Amino acid sequence: MTLRLGDTVPDFTAETTEGPIHFHEWLGDGWGVLFSHPKNFTPVCTTELGEVARLKPAFDARGVKVIGLSVDEVKDHHAWAEDIADTQGHALNFPLIADHDRKVSDLYGMIHPNASDTMTVRSVFVIGPDKKLKLSLTYPASTGRNFEEILRVIDSLQLTAKHAVATPVNWKHGDDVIIVPSVSDEAAKEKFPGGWKTVRPYLRIVAQPGTAKG
Ligand code: BEZ
Repeated sequence: MTLRLGDTVPDFTAETTEGPIHFHEWLGDGWGVLFSHPKNFTPVCTTELGEVARLKPAFDARGVKVIGLSVDEVKDHHAWAEDIADTQGHALNFPLIADHDRKVSDLYGMIHPNASDTMTVRSVFVIGPDKKLKLSLTYPASTGRNFEEILRVIDSLQLTAKHAVATPVNWKHGDDVIIVPSVSDEAAKEKFPGGWKTVRPYLRIVAQPGTAKG
């Protein structure tokens, strides 16, 4: 199945390192990140899982639940978790789905047979409180992801959801943002009483709402 931005993400039940879950119920009414990794006891995956554990407080601060997945058994997840804590200095502090029957991988299109028949690729799905897909990305097994970038994207998505602004190239938290084209100048006057800079009628720059400048 191809999941597209704006689609409602599939619901499922699964076994995890923290017990069985119903995915939509587990998400509740907040944001979520579901990510797959190819296989337990592999080097790149070990570094990624340690990094997500390190960044967990940053996901929590944004109201985002994180859950990992691979097609290994739950007992293997528990055994590997010891290695992650030992080698990365951060113990697993979020659930890992044991998708040994590939039910979830197939639902979300995480197995790309021309890359590998047996392992999931490195997929990331960012899901909004409305259960709709806000972002997806796919990396090959050999390239570890940058989870600071996932946090940066979440900051952008959450700003858009709350303030009708978009974020420009290389934007990071605290930088100026862009008033989305669907907001008229008239409406912008109410939303951004501090004013904005019109570079072109379609390119209106404003301080990030919620910061000292905005
Ligand atoms: C890794 O995590 O290092 C890895 C996993 C599967 C294939 C290649 C690398």
